[in-house]
Amino acid sequence: MALHIPKCLELVDLDQQMTSPAAKVPYYPLVVDKGKGATVTDVDGNQYIDLLASAGAINTGHCHPKVVEAIKKQTEQLILYTPVYMYHRPLIDLSQKLIEITPGNYRKRVFYGLCGSDANDGAIKMARTATKRKKILSFLRAYHGSTYGAISLSAVSLPMRRGLGPLLPEIHHIPYPDTYRTPFAGMSEEDVTAYSIERIKELFTTCVPAEEVAAIFFEPIQGDAGLIVPPTGYVKALRELCDTYGILLISEEVQQGFGRTGKWFGIENFDVIPDAIVMGKAIASGMPLGGVVAKAELMEQWEAPAHLFTAAGNPVCCAAASATIDVIKEENLRENATEIGAYTLSRFKEMQKRFEFIGDVRGIGLSIGVDLVKDRTTKERNTEAAAKVCYQAWQKGLLLSFFSGSVLRIQPPLVISKQQIDTALAKIEEAFEEYEAGAIPDSVLETVKGW
Ligand SMILES: Cc1ncc(COP(=O)(O)O)c(C=O)c1O
Repeated sequence: MALHIPKCLELVDLDQQMTSPAAKVPYYPLVVDKGKGATVTDVDGNQYIDLLASAGAINTGHCHPKVVEAIKKQTEQLILYTPVYMYHRPLIDLSQKLIEITPGNYRKRVFYGLCGSDANDGAIKMARTATKRKKILSFLRAYHGSTYGAISLSAVSLPMRRGLGPLLPEIHHIPYPDTYRTPFAGMSEEDVTAYSIERIKELFTTCVPAEEVAAIFFEPIQGDAGLIVPPTGYVKALRELCDTYGILLISEEVQQGFGRTGKWFGIENFDVIPDAIVMGKAIASGMPLGGVVAKAELMEQWEAPAHLFTAAGNPVCCAAASATIDVIKEENLRENATEIGAYTLSRFKEMQKRFEFIGDVRGIGLSIGVDLVKDRTTKERNTEAAAKVCYQAWQKGLLLSFFSGSVLRIQPPLVISKQQIDTALAKIEEAFEEYEAGAIPDSVLETVKGW
C-alpha cells in the first residue's frame, strides 16, 4: 500500500514554486515535521527510521534532550554577542573540549564558522598564510562544500562548478585510493596505495613543485564519492610524504567526525596525526557550526580580519556543541557506532552473497556504503537499482539515500538501537527482493533523482 502523504505533497509543491533548485537534490517528497532519536515523522504522521541523520549531521539523534536543554538554556541567557569583538564562556568551554578530543599531542588553536564549507575555506586561508605557499592538493570525486573555496577543493561533479568560475586557482586534484574500482584490474590494496602515492610524486616532478604545496585536504573516508575507505598504508604514506615536503595534512572530517566511525575523528582509525582537523555537520547536533582545530603555530601567522564571521561560534551553537560532545561521551556513542556498525556491515555482506547487484559493502563504524552495480566484473554503477531501492525503502518507512550514482548511504544517528537497525535491514532486504523481481516500476525514477 502506498504511503498516504497529502500534506507532504501540498507543501512540496509550494516549496518547489519558490526555492532555488540549486539547493535541492530530490529523493522523495518527505516533509519532516518531527524527529526523535533515530526516527522522524512527516507532516502526515508517517514515521520513518532515519538512515541518513540529516546528511550525517545528527549523530546524537534528533532532538536529544540534553542538547535541546542546552540550546534552550543558552537561548534564554544570550543568543549572540559576536565573539569577534567580545568573549563568551560557551565558546571558551567548547574550545577546551575540542582541543581535548582532537588527536595530536601538540599546542592547538580553534577557529569557528557556520558550516563545513566555510571551515574548509578557512583551512585554505590558514594553510596558505602559515606555509607561505599557494598550491593545495585535494582529491578527485571529493565534496567539500558550497562556498567558493570549498567548491574549488571539490571535484565531485560538473554541475557544482558549471558557470561559476573562475574558482580559486592553484588547487590540484589527485586520485583517492579506491580499492574497489581500482585504477587497473586485479590491483591489491598495496598496489592501489603505491599507484596513488606515485600519482602525487609524479605531480611533484612534473607540474606541481612539492615546495609550493601548502596542504593536502584528505577525507579519512571519502564521503560523497561513495564512502571509499582508504588502505591504512596509504594514509601513513600520505603523512610521510607531507612530512618530507613540509606540506600540511588536513583531515577533512565534516562528514566522518564526532563518533561516526567509532572514534572521535575518522583519521584516528589509521593511527595518523594530522596537522589540522576540519569540522562541521554533527559538531553541534544540527545547529549551524563548523570550525578547524589545528596546530597553534598555524593560526599564529594571520591577523584579523583574515577569517571571522559575526555569528560564528555564537553562544547557542557552542552550547549545543558542548552538549553534543558530552552526550557522545556519556552515552558511549562511539562504542555503539562500532558495534552496530560492524553488525550492519556483516548483515549487508550476507545480503551481498544473495543479490548479484550488490558489488561492494564497505565502511567503518556507522559510515557504511553499499555499492550497487550492473555487473560485478565491470562494476558499472547501477543508479536505477539505487534509486528504486531508496524509493521502496521510503515507502516502507525508512529514510535511505544514495550518492555517487550507486552507493546506498548508511549513516544513521549513532543512537540507533539494534532493534531499529534490524527493522531497517529487513526492509532494505525486502526492497532488494522487490528490485530483483522487477516489481518496482520505472515511474519511481521520476521522483528519486539523488546524486
Ligand atoms: C566531507 C564534507 N565536507 C564539507 C561539507 C560541506 O558542509 P556544509 O554543507 O555544512 O557546508 C560536506 C557536506 O556534505 C561534506 O560531506
